[in-house]
Amino acid sequence: MKVIKIEKDQIDDKLLSEAARLIQEGGLVAFPTETVYGLGANALDRQAAKKIYSAKGRPSDNPLIVHISRPKELEPLVKEISQAGKKLIEAYWPGPLTLIFPKSHLVPDETTGGLDTVAVRMPADPIANRLIELAGVPIAAPSANTSGRPSPTLAEHVMQDMDGRIDMLLDGGPVGIGVESTIVDVSGPTPVLLRPGAVTMEMLKAVAGAVETDQAVAGPVSGDIKPKAPGMKYRHYAPKAQLILVEEDPKAKESAADVINRLTREKLKQGYKVGIICTEETFSAYPEGMVKSLGLRSREETIAHNLFAVLREFDDLQADYIYSECFPQTHLGQAIMNRLSKAAGYHVIHTGKEEE
Ligand code: TXA
Ligand code: MG
Repeated sequence: MKVIKIEKDQIDDKLLSEAARLIQEGGLVAFPTETVYGLGANALDRQAAKKIYSAKGRPSDNPLIVHISRPKELEPLVKEISQAGKKLIEAYWPGPLTLIFPKSHLVPDETTGGLDTVAVRMPADPIANRLIELAGVPIAAPSANTSGRPSPTLAEHVMQDMDGRIDMLLDGGPVGIGVESTIVDVSGPTPVLLRPGAVTMEMLKAVAGAVETDQAVAGPVSGDIKPKAPGMKYRHYAPKAQLILVEEDPKAKESAADVINRLTREKLKQGYKVGIICTEETFSAYPEGMVKSLGLRSREETIAHNLFAVLREFDDLQADYIYSECFPQTHLGQAIMNRLSKAAGYHVIHTGKEEE
């Protein structure tokens, strides 16, 4: 795998042209976006799309997001663009918002996992945007992690997962946002949120009016309920340790920190390695265990930014158990809690009524 360093504010077209040529020839190139690193291939090339699935070890029924560099590149890929779709594009493209449309014949089944809809996003990251423009084709790109691992927010994460499996990595440094794009299905009469992200529910409603939420966003999907984003059914972002979330009930006697400290002490006594995920505001409340802060509660974007890197750090430290604080489910907190809950396999302890 060839690694090329690119400066975001001083993009060298010569370097990017080499990456663009690889894409045109059916190769795989990992590149930064404002959300997480993506693993790119020509979205209109069946064989290239297939290569993505095998590099990630990803089930082939899990469709890919198609990335474009200009709004006009959307038209050939879709059958129609609803009013809600138009409004959301106008408000939030380029940016961390993926929209689902009925697909045109141009988009192969290999890219959409056999669905008759296609997910499209126009990234704001200047490296991603210029790469797509130079390639001259839409780029299919899932997050550039091995299937089941946290999404990569640093070039080093991509190296850990993809070295030897892809042709090139564009190293643009740490990403900005740190959680994957918001996904909204605008193929039906009312927009449906399929995956929360940095374009929040509040932001979607401000522009599109009514927005529904797919069941898979809130909790585990069981039995015969099919999530609309096939990817939501897999246990994503899973750290190797058992992750347990501790939700604080303000009326309970013990605080979240009290419960986490007590459980940590128990597990340490049994000889396990224990990690604790907290925030700057609460860091000093944890005397034992491997304690990591995600950032500032008062600035949730710092929490989103560090979340996946911290999960990977605990993998490297070979933690057996990780206890994490929770966050309010509003604004960016909805995306943060969605990723944390999935990583925990929805294992949550509520202070005051502890039954594991
Ligand atoms: O921020 C992002 O979206 C990153 C960067 C690289 O752009 N990409 C990303 O891709 O997160 P991936 O493949 O890790 O997640 C794509 C999600 C999956 O859950 C998939 O099931 C869903 O999008 N998806 C793709 N096409 C779909 C479709 N036609 N209908 C419903 N869900 C779809
Ligand atoms: Mg992914």
